[in-house]
Amino acid sequence: MSKIKNEIYNPDYVKNLFNRMSNSYERMNYITSFGFSIRWRKQYLKQLKTKNEKVEVIDLLTGMGETWGAITKKYKSANITALDFSEGMLEYANNKNQKKFNSKIKVIQQDILNNQLPSDHYDFVTCAFGLKTFNPEQVEILASETKRILKQGGQCSFIEVSKPNNAILTFLYGLYLGKIVPILGKLLLGNPEEYKMLWTYTLKFKNSQQAVELFKKQGLSVTYQSYFGGCATGFIAEKL
Ligand SMILES: C[S@@+](CC[C@H](N)C(=O)[O-])C[C@H]1O[C@@H](n2cnc3c(N)ncnc32)[C@H](O)[C@@H]1O
Repeated sequence: MSKIKNEIYNPDYVKNLFNRMSNSYERMNYITSFGFSIRWRKQYLKQLKTKNEKVEVIDLLTGMGETWGAITKKYKSANITALDFSEGMLEYANNKNQKKFNSKIKVIQQDILNNQLPSDHYDFVTCAFGLKTFNPEQVEILASETKRILKQGGQCSFIEVSKPNNAILTFLYGLYLGKIVPILGKLLLGNPEEYKMLWTYTLKFKNSQQAVELFKKQGLSVTYQSYFGGCATGFIAEKL
């Protein structure tokens, strides 16, 4: 990979950011999306084909396993793998796996941009709210890795918090995520800076349109999705 120009996309920087946020992420995630994140996670999984047989699913950038409930509900007899590189987030994920999921999720600590996952292996790849901390060069690697690990006919679904198209909605969302949430972060949790970064990433990311192009470039069949006036965007893609 060529030199990462902007420090905020440096994997070590991102990893440290999530390690620092890990003790408050779940609560703040709920607050930052007005509780919409739970609904959006269900909606973005709904886009994927339903299969009753045993399927292989991998949840990339799994965080604390926020999507596992929805995945296990949709794919009742799936083998589920969950990948993240932040030990802080994974500590909570492992705990949740033990307490709520009978340790049936295979949790692995790897960098998706430099991973050892098997090729042509997964029926479904899911990824919620992980795109914004990648620059376009890294999204290109993510796209090629997603294609590599998917089986032929396999599908992936991605979703990310985005800058809405509507100026009023953008203003209100920006005010909320850029100003109010950091204050809440400080009052409730003592760490406003980390949460301010989430809006900084969102402004740079804009929406999933560029990622759609980069996934198409890999030869995947891609469909763009917009949720709640563009407050979140994403896409589903299939390996033909
Ligand atoms: C915003 S959180 C999303 C967590 C979860 N998917 C959710 O729905 O809330 C993004 C996660 O991606 C992880 N992450 C970011 N870059 C990564 C990389 N290159 N490899 C593996 N994990 C990464 C972070 O550690 C963090 O846990």
